[in-house]
Amino acid sequence: MIRFESEHTPVPHLVPACSGVVLELGPGAGNQLFRFDKAKVTRIVGVESNPLFAPDLQRQIRANGLEGVYDVIVPARFGEDDAAADEELARQGIVPGSVDTVLSVQVLCSVSDPQRAMREVYRLLKPGGRFIFWEHTRSEDLVTRVVQYLWNPLWTRVIGGCRLTRDTRSVIESAGEWKNIESIESDELPWSMVPRMWGVLVKPEPS
Ligand SMILES: C[S@@+](CC[C@H](N)C(=O)[O-])C[C@H]1O[C@@H](n2cnc3c(N)ncnc32)[C@H](O)[C@@H]1O
Repeated sequence: MIRFESEHTPVPHLVPACSGVVLELGPGAGNQLFRFDKAKVTRIVGVESNPLFAPDLQRQIRANGLEGVYDVIVPARFGEDDAAADEELARQGIVPGSVDTVLSVQVLCSVSDPQRAMREVYRLLKPGGRFIFWEHTRSEDLVTRVVQYLWNPLWTRVIGGCRLTRDTRSVIESAGEWKNIESIESDELPWSMVPRMWGVLVKPEPS
């Protein structure tokens, strides 16, 4: 997957664009850690719901020289009914209007309540802060969408809660007012089961 992302996707350009105080949603095994530009980030907090990834994450932090920069909150369900996670985020200084960048790489397909999670992303971002993402969404093509719905039950079970049918595009767009909503890019192909979309959305500053 790392190689596929490196060679065929915009992920290698998106992750190094993270700057300042960064919140990484669902870092998993830490596959994106090597892509951060250490000269640009002051601090990164990763929120991961699966405790099995904790050792891998710690290993990636060490391997990429991110000790003292990257803190992990695990297990913690971001944007869900997880009071302990919210408390820990606040204890780490991740409070409304405090985050420069939120990074989400293939996470919104598996969070339980993506609308709530994205509202929380928007609330945590500073004015002028950026939401950087590479996600997949349901297809615009009707036939493909039917196939996605047929595959979804099995897919969700096999790929750890990932939903093929989620309208992630609307979830992101409706989280709040974005300065550059038109800049979202996608590689939608009529037959793709996982049409990708990505972008760097900016929360407007008050005028
Ligand atoms: C497909 S993996 C992506 C991992 C990583 N972002 C990457 O690019 O390799 C999705 C990750 O999101 C995590 N996740 C799902 N819902 C979450 C939530 N509400 N809060 C935190 N992590 C969550 C899963 O445990 C999993 O590690």
